Amino acid sequence: MRVLVTGAAGFIGSTTAELLLAEGHEVTALDNLVTGDRANVPRDAEFVEGSVGDRALIRALGHFDACIHFAGLIAPADSMTHPETFFTMNVAQTLELLEGLIENGVPRFVFSSSCAVYGDKVTIPIDESHPTAPHSPYGESKLLVEHGLKWLSELGKIKTASLRYFNAAGGTALHPERHRNEFHLIPLTLAAAAGDRDGISIFGTDYDTPDGTCIRDYIHVSDLAAAHVLAVDALATHDQLTLNLGSGVGYSCREIVDAVGRVTGRTFPIHEAPRRPGDPAAAVASNAKARTTLGWELQHSDLDTIVADAWSGYSQR
Ligand SMILES: NC(=O)c1ccc[n+]([C@@H]2O[C@H](COP(=O)([O-])OP(=O)(O)OC[C@H]3O[C@@H](n4cnc5c(N)ncnc54)[C@H](O)[C@@H]3O)[C@@H](O)[C@H]2O)c1
Repeated sequence: MRVLVTGAAGFIGSTTAELLLAEGHEVTALDNLVTGDRANVPRDAEFVEGSVGDRALIRALGHFDACIHFAGLIAPADSMTHPETFFTMNVAQTLELLEGLIENGVPRFVFSSSCAVYGDKVTIPIDESHPTAPHSPYGESKLLVEHGLKWLSELGKIKTASLRYFNAAGGTALHPERHRNEFHLIPLTLAAAAGDRDGISIFGTDYDTPDGTCIRDYIHVSDLAAAHVLAVDALATHDQLTLNLGSGVGYSCREIVDAVGRVTGRTFPIHEAPRRPGDPAAAVASNAKARTTLGWELQHSDLDTIVADAWSGYSQR
């Protein structure tokens, strides 16, 4: 297949592009490098520097068998200070991309959605029928695109899969996790373990959880990448899919910080800080629908593998 991968200079897009190439597909990697890194684009992909919002460019790229759309802004906290930028970059530009793809007759579209669509009042485990109520413009931007995609599929314009990731983590030797302005717990804790920052803060130690800290679902980026390739295939027989991509297992912030200490063999300061507004006590996926629909099997998402792979990527810096 010929696949257009947007955001392929980023963490999840580059890993997925690499897997597509390894499975014999042709990949065109589109990224404007606003937060991505050119060096992260797989060597065997054709790289196009540009924006998904440039419809003339999308039209000029021609026909693909599928598009996997990772490009976007990703930090929920930034979306609280610059909501307009998030709606432009994540919604308006995605609609321009879709118009170009539809004009070119691209039949399948896989979208990076997020568990942020569920908001902060959640019942665990979260399945796909759980009410959606985003509590940030970031989550809202994902839900707005999902709504548009449902109509496009229903009206026969393009088949679509919205994949709601929980916390992407881990990394591969070729594509370690390296976000600009990192805000994810595991890489921040690894930085503390490496002595590159002054310890790690745990926000909230009085939640109604076994150790009082927030519980989250971490999914290895290699398992995420595999689900995307399967989702492209599944759109041969489905017009529209909405699937959670999580491990189905929750770990508390304290368990993550302890795992980093155990795996790296390092000690570092741990600071207890007040809760952050809008952080749910727990967010854990039901991944049953994704496993059944895609035939997806998790192979890398146990905690020690996630942390060990992330540490080996961090140590390459
Ligand atoms: N990392 C996570 O835990 C997580 C969780 C849920 C959902 N997601 C979603 O997955 C996707 C990928 O996340 P990531 O962690 O790889 O992020 P990332 O920041 O590493 O990658 C995003 C890439 O998109 C590119 N980009 C942004 N706007 C663009 C545009 N208009 N045109 C072309 N390229 C553009 C950036 O340069 C970057 O390379 C995002 O849509 C994100 O919202 C991520």
